[in-house]
Amino acid sequence: MNICVIGAGYVGLITALCFGKKGNTVICVEKNLDKLSMLNNGVPTIFEEGLDELLKESLNTDSVKFTDNLEMGIKSSDIIFIAVGTPTKDNWDVDIGQVEVVINLISPYINKYKVVVTKSTVPVGTQKYITSKLLENNVPKEYFDVVSNPEFLREGKAIYDFFHGDKIVLGSESQKALEVMRKLYEPFKIKMVLTNPETAELIKYTSNAMLSVKISFINEIANLCNKACADIDVIAYALGLDKRISPLFLKAGLGYGGSCFPKDTKALVKMSENYNCNLNIVKATVDVNEKQRVLPVDILLEHYKIIEGKTVGILGLTFKPDTDDIREAPSLYIIEKLLKNKVNIKAYDPMVTKEIKNIFPDITYCDGVYECLEDCDAMIICTEWNEFYSIDLCKVNEIMRESIIIDGRNILDIEKIKEANIKAYYSVGKGNIKN
Ligand code: UGA
Repeated sequence: MNICVIGAGYVGLITALCFGKKGNTVICVEKNLDKLSMLNNGVPTIFEEGLDELLKESLNTDSVKFTDNLEMGIKSSDIIFIAVGTPTKDNWDVDIGQVEVVINLISPYINKYKVVVTKSTVPVGTQKYITSKLLENNVPKEYFDVVSNPEFLREGKAIYDFFHGDKIVLGSESQKALEVMRKLYEPFKIKMVLTNPETAELIKYTSNAMLSVKISFINEIANLCNKACADIDVIAYALGLDKRISPLFLKAGLGYGGSCFPKDTKALVKMSENYNCNLNIVKATVDVNEKQRVLPVDILLEHYKIIEGKTVGILGLTFKPDTDDIREAPSLYIIEKLLKNKVNIKAYDPMVTKEIKNIFPDITYCDGVYECLEDCDAMIICTEWNEFYSIDLCKVNEIMRESIIIDGRNILDIEKIKEANIKAYYSVGKGNIKN
């Protein structure tokens, strides 16, 4: 099929390349010329497993073209995916401004029947709004149908997920458009949910909210475990043996971050308020997460009483391992709160980006774990990068001024902590050790 993907961001780029790989002809339209030139030269614009190879293959086989020529993209395609950003405003409403701009830009080029698909995460009612906008822009009603097709890709595993996802959700009032989309996705052999637009739009938010609820729930239980001398990992394991619960998304830690869960849970709360409906569980989930991500600072304050002038080593800055994304990462909130308390900060992340140096120019960025921990009064593990699992704790004890460890992701072995004579170890629901 002939496809046009508008936006070569995280979702758009993966969508374009994966449809190209499945034998479709794809034009990916992007207005950022730097991004375009990188992609046309086979240079990935984001860090994603398998992207480098897939991008080069797509350029070699000519299955995907990257261009800023919207007219050519729209006129030569049967299906148009909108994959532009939909950030959350300060009042938690979703800003669909970029989607609106795209609708206005594509309207003049819709010269025969096309399916317009929203891949961007958009609030309930957006599909109806898009339809009315296209009609307002004088696009004849027989020239288009709109379909909502939310994405469920995880950062870092997006290409794998595109080919092996659990579900494809398609929402539309038009059977004709749903049939076009069903054919497009048929070769992927993934279960499809065909429904109305509003249901499809809400599935995306509900899916991310459900996973966030699981995380905040297990984090609250972890905090109880620390007081009740119970072990959260054993509890999570036992819960996970029950197929009705599933073992996934029950890892206690410093809460969820990233570009999706924080944004989508807030948007869902706001959306429900606009419908005069109260989503108390999602509200509590957001609230628990906001407290959980700064838990290490509360622990330090309780341990030291006064933390001004102390030096803290932060291990891991990204919101999860195997990504270079720091959006809504717990580390950002921890650093901000530590700086307010006049703490000196050293930080190490295997993929630390320029971006974080711009946000916090006055902290010391290190090139390795031990350089980071040298002369620190405490360390906080914020992200569970692989290399942190095997930290030499005896060495840590030697090089730190005081070996106070806050293991925000429960990755260190308690027996090894004891053997290394660490001064104090704080976990998230696996107990604390103080010498
Ligand atoms: C998430 C969803 O998993 C995708 O299905 C969805 O498509 C995507 O958002 C989106 O809406 O675009 P992603 O943000 O890449 O994907 O991250 P996840 O791997 O789901 O992790 C989210 C956060 O939850 C991370 O900060 C992670 O550390 C945290 N987490 C996850 C936990 O604290 N505990 C867990 O057990 C699992």
